[in-house]
Amino acid sequence: MLRDLVLKNRSYRRFYQEVSIELETLRDLVDLARLSASALNLQPLKYVLSREPQKNALIFSHLGWASYLKGWSGPAEGERPSAYIIVLGDTEISRSFGCDHGIAAQSILLGATEKGLGGCMIATVKRQELSQALGIAPRYEILLVIALGKPKETVAIDKVEPNGDAKYWRDSQGVHHVPKRALDDIIIG
Ligand SMILES: Cc1cc2nc3c(=O)[nH]c(=O)nc-3n(C[C@H](O)[C@H](O)[C@H](O)COP(=O)(O)O)c2cc1C
Repeated sequence: MLRDLVLKNRSYRRFYQEVSIELETLRDLVDLARLSASALNLQPLKYVLSREPQKNALIFSHLGWASYLKGWSGPAEGERPSAYIIVLGDTEISRSFGCDHGIAAQSILLGATEKGLGGCMIATVKRQELSQALGIAPRYEILLVIALGKPKETVAIDKVEPNGDAKYWRDSQGVHHVPKRALDDIIIG
């Protein structure tokens, strides 16, 4: 069951933009992050939720999408995320956030997948500009933006040959291919 969820939990970058996500759904997803592991149990992460078209558009304009897909600058209008969860680090709780935000983001995306949604972690963010645009207080550092929506693309997992290329790519049918290294190539001892 968990394996199925992990397999289905791909990075999706094209969505049915018209399918909105309830505020309660976003809150449920953050609740999964809240219950996840945190170094020293400091729980320094805070969240900004967005589901309104105007706020979504503002966030979208600060994000970088799929740098390996040359000539594709991100989802077109109509295929953009219908919600975002911005993961912030509260510097008044801790100066460093370790891998807390990765763990939180994975919990959120697994929860989204279970609900029939999907998304993508985005670290390519114009952080300062986005902080200002949203009026986020300086004590909060933007760590990750999680784009969410009802996926409108197929993602296939391929095998990477030993020493092969792991770059993702999109075929002529629009299927997004994600090469993954083989188990025996990553267990080294
Ligand atoms: C920490 C982190 C940051 C990422 N940042 C971006 C990003 O800025 N833009 C983007 O399109 N995808 C981003 N991704 C998604 C990765 O490209 C994606 O995880 C990878 O291609 C593997 O695909 P998969 O998630 O379907 O396994 C990020 C993923 C992680 C874990």
